[in-house]
Amino acid sequence: MSLKLVKGGHLIDPQNSLNGKYDILIDRGKIVKIDSSISPPPGAEVINAENCFITPSFTDIHVHFRDPGQTYKEDIFTGSLSAVAGGYTTVVCMPNTLPAVDEPSLVRYIIEKGEEAGLCRVLPAAAVTKERKGKELTEMSLLKEAGAVYFTDDGAPVIDTHVMRKAMEYAGSIGSFVADHCEDLSLSADGVAHEGEIAAALGLPPLPPEAEDTMIARDCVLSMHTGMPVHICHLSTKVGVEIVAWAKAMGAKVSAEVTPHHLYLTDEEWLDFDCKAKVSPPLREHEDIEALRWALASGIIDIVATDHAPHAQQEKMAEHQHCPPGMIGLQFALPIVLELVRKDYFDMNRLVEVMSINPAKKIGLIPPQLKEGETAEFTVFDPSESWEVNEEAIKSKSKNTPLLGRKLIGKVKYTFFEGKIVYRDR
Ligand code: DOR
Repeated sequence: MSLKLVKGGHLIDPQNSLNGKYDILIDRGKIVKIDSSISPPPGAEVINAENCFITPSFTDIHVHFRDPGQTYKEDIFTGSLSAVAGGYTTVVCMPNTLPAVDEPSLVRYIIEKGEEAGLCRVLPAAAVTKERKGKELTEMSLLKEAGAVYFTDDGAPVIDTHVMRKAMEYAGSIGSFVADHCEDLSLSADGVAHEGEIAAALGLPPLPPEAEDTMIARDCVLSMHTGMPVHICHLSTKVGVEIVAWAKAMGAKVSAEVTPHHLYLTDEEWLDFDCKAKVSPPLREHEDIEALRWALASGIIDIVATDHAPHAQQEKMAEHQHCPPGMIGLQFALPIVLELVRKDYFDMNRLVEVMSINPAKKIGLIPPQLKEGETAEFTVFDPSESWEVNEEAIKSKSKNTPLLGRKLIGKVKYTFFEGKIVYRDR
């Protein structure tokens, strides 16, 4: 149907100073009219958005879709399904696949698979070093030409400081950037859970926050001296927040992301000894969560990124040393960030900034907008609908999340991408 009328939603788009109830008329995929009340033209499909918010759709710059090599955990189609069910229309896939995305043909492979899936924009990040081994830089300009939107060895840090410096200089000189998984492996060693009372009480191998903090500090210092950008992946500590704040105040081109799970869950998730709580960096303490929330509110942290990391059930049932770290996140980000709005950490405009505008800009895209003349690319969600996280509700191939069985508030009802409805809640 070429005409659609989305009626009665509360539109929020800080890019167009929109914050209020409006109808949206869409003709052949384009927003042709935004007005306080539009009567349905003949033949139009009317979509009821009463009690819903409508925002530009979300961009997640950090997901693991496991293709090539581990499609039993996720593939680009199931990952895309999960993305649009979470209100996302752009995702960036991490290169820690098998093989690692370290050459242009693999970058093109992911883009093509994403286009075949056709649900959202699937873009690849490429590895910083060949095979993610931390030694030899990849051919960054060829990878960028092929479509890589940034560079990271995520899942692992770039340990060698000289290699990291060269990588930042090179990526920066071609208008891109390096994103680092900040972890000093000599400090994290065989650690499994955040070093604190819970790990001590349960006898779990501790992973100290210094493992993350020292690498964040190193990367900030390198960025300051080289003048090149660096992006801190999945920032999880209160000290890390302070370091990023300091680097930003010094004028360094540092940006940072935080995951929904680090904003919401603590190391108490380990209390039932379930490895669904295992993630890298580890779940931290209440004080860290509080610092992350305020940092997201104040702009020290720029972006919410899910680090959606699917793993098969049998893998997550392994003993804690052998179980892979990671949890899925694409469908939980919105309800978790909405919870922070309800608790008054920040307002809906900030939600749109950290989930849509900032992440899109970070990878050089023009963020979607609620504006006449634009292609319809927005998310309609009910901020008060409660739903249970269960296997049926999860669109991802993997179900690894400590949230299983819990209730979340806030549900995506429709996701529009390239003028079409790519997700409808039933
Ligand atoms: O918990 C994590 N899982 N953190 C990472 O950095 C990598 C990811 C994965 O690939 O499973």
